[in-house]
Amino acid sequence: MNARNIVLVGFMGTGKSTVASLIAERLGWSKVDLDTSIETAERATIPQLFAGQGEPYFRQAETNALIRELEGREGQVVATGGGAVLAEQNRAIMLGNGLVVALTASVETILERVQNDPNRPLLKGNAAASVPELLEKRKTAYDFAHLRIDTTGRTPESIADEIVGKV
Ligand code: S3P
Repeated sequence: MNARNIVLVGFMGTGKSTVASLIAERLGWSKVDLDTSIETAERATIPQLFAGQGEPYFRQAETNALIRELEGREGQVVATGGGAVLAEQNRAIMLGNGLVVALTASVETILERVQNDPNRPLLKGNAAASVPELLEKRKTAYDFAHLRIDTTGRTPESIADEIVGKV
């Protein structure tokens, strides 16, 4: 395949950001973290945006960031936030600009990775209750991706190697 960009999607705690850094290093591409791009553009942290402006505002900022970072660009590995796939417009931008890879993990693995993380407002400080509920709601949300990789029990390095092999 001759991908212009690689876009990593998946639920919180599936390792998108870590794997994106490794892929970027291996290919000599730039890594873009969508949440960081939103925080820079909005001059506020994700929890501040959720608390101050609300989720719909955050979602619009997320779409703006996707357009800014992906449209007409190449040689980037973009790690998206877990909810970036919810809007049809966002899925179209991703599919139109690169190889979209969905990372998955077991609920136990996700819980281990996100527990006690104050930077994930959707978990409302109670990951044990929120993660299974949100996972159920988003059961099919990542199905549109070109590729799907289960990260449970695997190292980020082996996942990065697998994705690099498909580019
Ligand atoms: C969100 C996931 C977060 C961040 C925001 C909302 C979601 O990103 O974008 O808190 O809706 O799943 P990570 O997947 O990097 O935690």
